[in-house]
Parts: sequence; C-alpha cells; structure tokens
Amino acid sequence: MKKITMGAVLFSMMFAGVNAQTLQSPDGKFRMDFQLKQGVPYYNLKYNEAVVVEDSRLGLRLFKDTAIKFASEIAKPEDAKFDLNNGFSKKAETRDSKNETWQPVLGEKKNYINHYNELAVTLHQDATDRDIVVKFRLFNDGLGFRYEFPQQKNLNYFVIREEDSEIDFPTDMKAWWIAADYDSQEYQPQTTKISEIPARWPNSFDSNASQKMVPNAVQSPLMLKKEGKEPLYVNLGEAAVLDYPASNLEVDAVNFKFKTHLTPDRQGAKGYIQTSSVSPWRTIIISPKAEEVLGSKMMFNLNEPTKYTDTSYIHPTKYMGVWWEMIIGKSQWAYSTAENVHIGVTDFSKLTPNGKHAANTTKVKEYIDFAAENGFKGLLIEGWNVGWEDWFGHSKEFVFDFITPYPDFDIKALNEYAHSKGMKLIMHHETSGSATNYERWADKAFKLMNDYGYDAVKTGYVGDIIPRGEHHYSQWTINHYYRIAEKANEYKIMVNSHESVRPGGESRTYPNYISAEAARGTEFEAFAGNNPDHQTILPFTRWMGGPMDYTPGIFQTKLDYYFPGDKRFVKTTLAKQLALYVVMYMPLQMAADLPENYKRHMDAFQFIKDVAADWDDTKILSAEPGDYIITARKAKGTEDWFVGGITDENKREYTVDFSFLDKGRKYEVTVYEDGKDADYVNNPQSYNIYKKTVTNKSKIKINMARSGGFAISAKPVK
Ligand code: NOJ
Ligand code: CA
Repeated sequence: MKKITMGAVLFSMMFAGVNAQTLQSPDGKFRMDFQLKQGVPYYNLKYNEAVVVEDSRLGLRLFKDTAIKFASEIAKPEDAKFDLNNGFSKKAETRDSKNETWQPVLGEKKNYINHYNELAVTLHQDATDRDIVVKFRLFNDGLGFRYEFPQQKNLNYFVIREEDSEIDFPTDMKAWWIAADYDSQEYQPQTTKISEIPARWPNSFDSNASQKMVPNAVQSPLMLKKEGKEPLYVNLGEAAVLDYPASNLEVDAVNFKFKTHLTPDRQGAKGYIQTSSVSPWRTIIISPKAEEVLGSKMMFNLNEPTKYTDTSYIHPTKYMGVWWEMIIGKSQWAYSTAENVHIGVTDFSKLTPNGKHAANTTKVKEYIDFAAENGFKGLLIEGWNVGWEDWFGHSKEFVFDFITPYPDFDIKALNEYAHSKGMKLIMHHETSGSATNYERWADKAFKLMNDYGYDAVKTGYVGDIIPRGEHHYSQWTINHYYRIAEKANEYKIMVNSHESVRPGGESRTYPNYISAEAARGTEFEAFAGNNPDHQTILPFTRWMGGPMDYTPGIFQTKLDYYFPGDKRFVKTTLAKQLALYVVMYMPLQMAADLPENYKRHMDAFQFIKDVAADWDDTKILSAEPGDYIITARKAKGTEDWFVGGITDENKREYTVDFSFLDKGRKYEVTVYEDGKDADYVNNPQSYNIYKKTVTNKSKIKINMARSGGFAISAKPVK
C-alpha cells in the first residue's frame, strides 16, 4: 500500500460525501463517485465495495494564448486564458441509462450488448464563465468517461496543452506494456510491476522507421493485474479517438498512478478544438476474470453507430499475398536498380530490372492459381506500382501515384484473370508516411480500383509523416486516417491500414475500416523477432479496440530454409500458427506463407482453408495474459465451431470441454495439435492431425509444446 499522509486523510474526510455524485453499474457491482474538492474535479471507482481506482483528478490545460488577434473585434476575452481543471462549481447533473443490442457489420459475435448507467455533470468555471461537462458511463465491465465542450459565449475555440486525466490505483500491479511513442506501436510487450516500469523503460524498445519515444510513459490499451487470492484484471484504453490526438499514459511508479499524455502536433499543440465537441472516452475495463476482459465490447459501445447508408459491400476476406517473400528478403518491391526516380517523369520501362521484382505478371498468376484452387477470395500484391526504388528514408513527398503499374505488372489482365477464378486482387497503397500525397491522389487511386474491380486496400505509413513534423498519432494524422476511410466508403472500398493509429472501437462508426496493423505483427519475426508470449498478450492490449492484420500462417518458420545459416525464425510451432486464426480476431485474414510451403503441408493447410473470418459467437474458454489463450468461435451463419489455443514459452496441457456445443448433437471434429516432439526452437513443424466425433459432453486433452498451440474445427454430423 502506498503511504498516506495524515493531511491527506483529513482532507479526504472533510470532503468525502460532500457534494459527491454517485453512479452505479446496472448490476450494482461498480460504484463511481464524482466530487469537486475545492473546485477541482475527482472521480473514484469501487468494485464490490473495494476501492479499485482511488480519487483521481480530471481536467485539461490549455495554451494561454489561443486567441489569434487577427482583428481586435474578434480577440478572445482575457479570461479565456485559464485552464479547464480548477475553480469549478457544480451547475447541473443529468442521468441516463441504456440497454441496447446492436449488430456489428463484422464482429466476434452477432450481437453486442451496450448496457450502462450514465451521469453527466456540468461544471461551471466561475472566473471565466465557462462550462464543461464530464460524462461517465458505468457498465457491468467497467467505466468510461469523457469531457464535453458545449458551444458557449466564452468557449468557442481552444488549443489543448495537455489532458490530465488520472487513473490512480491503490496498489502495485502486474503490467503488460509497451513504451510510449508518438509514432509507433511496433514494440515487444514488457511484463513488469507498475513500480518497475521506470527501470525497464530505457531497455524496452528497439528502433523503428519512425519513432519519438516518451520517457516513462506507456501506450494503451494497457493490461494490468492485481495479483493475489482475489485477482482483478484491469484494462486502460481510449475509445472514439476522433479529431483528437491519441494518448499515452505517464507512469507515476511510486503512487501506481497513470495520467494521459496526448500526442502533440508539429507545434507542440495537443488538439485544436472547436466547440461544440467531445473528447475521446477514457476506458477502465475491470473484471476478476481475464476471459471477461477479452470479451469486453466497451470500447465499441462507446463509439457512435455508423452513418454509412450502405454497408453491403463490407465483407470478411481470407487472402494470400505476394508479400512474405519480400519481407524475408527473397525478392523485392522495386522493379529496377535505379536509386533516384521521378514519378510521372522517369520511364520505368527503360530502367535496368533488378531481377528480383516479385509483383510480375507470371508470378502473380501462379499465386492466383494456388489461392483460387484453395478457396481464397483475395490476393494482396505489393510492389505493383512505380516508386519503390527510393520510397523510404528521403522524406520524399511525391513518392507514389498509386495508379501507375510497373512495366512487368499487367494490371488489366491480372484482374481479369483473378475475377475469372472468382477472386479479387487486394490493392496496396504504401504512402511512405506522405499523407499529403496520398490525399492528393486518393480519388484517382480509388477510381482505378473501381475500374479494375478491387474492393479492399491495404494502406501503409512507414517512416515519418508528411506534413513534416506531424506524428502518426497526432490530431491531423488521425483525421487523415478517417478522411481516407470516408473517401474509401464513397468508392465502396474496405481499408486495412498499417502503421496507423491503434483503433479504439471506431470501426462501429467506420465499418469499412475493417482492420489495422498498429502493433508488432508477424513481419517482425523476419526482423528482430517476437517473443513466444507475444500473441498471448496482444489480444489483451492492441486488440481491445479492433482487429489487427497480424498476417499469420507461416509454416516454414525457420528462414535458413531459404538462406543457409540464417538465424531468423518465427518463434512458434506450426500448430500455433493455425491457432492464431481463432485466437486473434481478423475479418481480413491472411495466409501469409508462400504457396510452395503450403504445398508441403496440405493436411495442416486444410484448417486455414476451413476457418471462418466472421463470427456469430465467441467464447473465451480460458486465458491469462502472457501465458495462454483458448478461444472458441461459431462461424457466421453456420453451425460450425472453431477452437484455437496458444501458449507462451512454456509447454502446457489443456483439456477442451465441448460444453459450448449444442446439446444432443454430434459433431465431427478435426484436431490439429503439436506433435509429441514439437518445439518452437527444435522441431516447429511436428504436428499431429486426427478426427473424432464429439458431443457437448466430450472433453479432449491436448498438449501444447513450448510456444505451441492447437486448432480444432467442429462440424455437426448431418
Ligand atoms: C510495412 C507493412 O507492415 C508491411 O506489411 C508492408 O509490406 C511494408 N510496410 C511495405 O509497405
Ligand atoms: Ca508494420
């Protein structure tokens, strides 16, 4: 427990209960108290009467000189200088509650339940004659709160210096975190106590193509656990981050307290706000069960329903890609040996081919053949368009036009060929961080997609953002991502973005923004590597606000297969790669390995062919962050179930209890498990496949190897 001074005790006694507003969750288990202490807003949170969040401060600091004195008649009054974090009195209080069921366009379940009690307190700052509203929603799985800025005489425009929303915990807890950065989330998760974060922080990240680290701060969603006899799992996140920067969490490792730290723009400003408007929601998901945290839909519930009039074009897709061979260095994105090219000027047909360009018509046809034969509906091709010769590292604004193919890529013929086999090609738009250039070309790029019949695009933001000085998570760039999503919707195109901001449930509002990377994906296995516990942590962190394009399915995990002596390897068994298709929710689901590797393991590949990408139901059977996750899901519109289980660097035995299946029904299951001698280092490709008939009374014992796993498909017997 932290030290509490006598003064603090007296102070809290004086004010406890005085002027406090209380809010309870629908099931009565959570209680939130809001109060003003000498004009400063505080909230706390109790679960089953025990304090889980101590009195924590709320408020924002503003830039003092927000008034741009263009002409004296529009200059702001002097008192607009004050921060929005003190001198408040309570002006009004409104309450509301909701219990609704809604259907995500793509999701982990058919129905998401949005059930909460709400309290909105209007605070009046006497000295400046301004109002803000603090709104709380208390669900059965935790608390969300945000600020609202009504339009009013003395509050029309302001610039945020910092949002100071605190979350103050009574005790030290275990934490799964990545270091804070304004530009990247591609870091290996760290597992320490909150109190140990500062010591670990300097050694918690490797270098990235774009990075601006924030010392002693961590990113969200942040996973925490109060250990002991009565464990409590806590997840801190943010939802509906729109027209506002994404936040990091500053760590007070002595008081076990976190505080928001917004991503600044190029001028150091943290949000240009015009009233009437709202901040993102700060989310605190809490449960005694890790499984319930994974099942929480709070972040989606806190986003607005979509305004899109047509979502019929949005569909789940399993896809392959001309991709992994470039990532591992077997082939290249670029077509020629040139080092300096000018888009619209350079005649690429006159350049010397480098002989390693993967996106060529012959090779793409081979990929189409294999993908189509095996039931895939999509094929991503990277490196199809001109500009890859000098795409990275030069802060080049006009880096791609997104419409001109390389001379050896026959865009028309390849699309026709794919369509003739019932497939669509998936477009690739790497922006190289040049967001301005992408906005300039977006209409032409999406029109080209419509012309040739592409309906999904993978975008990417490798490297520093242009406008130069902006960050991947600053307000301007976040607005860019959603502008692109809206623009894509005009053309009925689905978006999967890489290196963009992590999602906070915004796909409820922008359902065509079906996936994002925004974390350390499989590609890092070919760079500096991912730890064996990586995939057991990501669903508790990055995934809480929306699916990730993790790109699983690597069967040839050891890269010395291609390059003798190469030490790089994917740190899982083959069976664990299969399990990821169930454990990690991905409506855009890639089979990332090369066709030649699948051809050598067609029996295991069958699972990837069978597994669904969109679900009517999900049950997290068992989970512990950093250790294991076992998930069962029911495929959309069918009676088929799929189960996936993964473990960290430890071997683990697990007994699948099929009680989630329909009573009185028989199912034929196919089990894909680690072989007896499987091991992610020594024998990753050892697996065992068998079939069996089960009912909802059956149990199957499974052994997972070190960084291993299992996958099961279950179909009702007709
Ligand atoms: C990084 C992305 O994560 C990866 O998938 C892509 O292949 C490269 N950028 C090139 O765009
Ligand atoms: Ca990436």
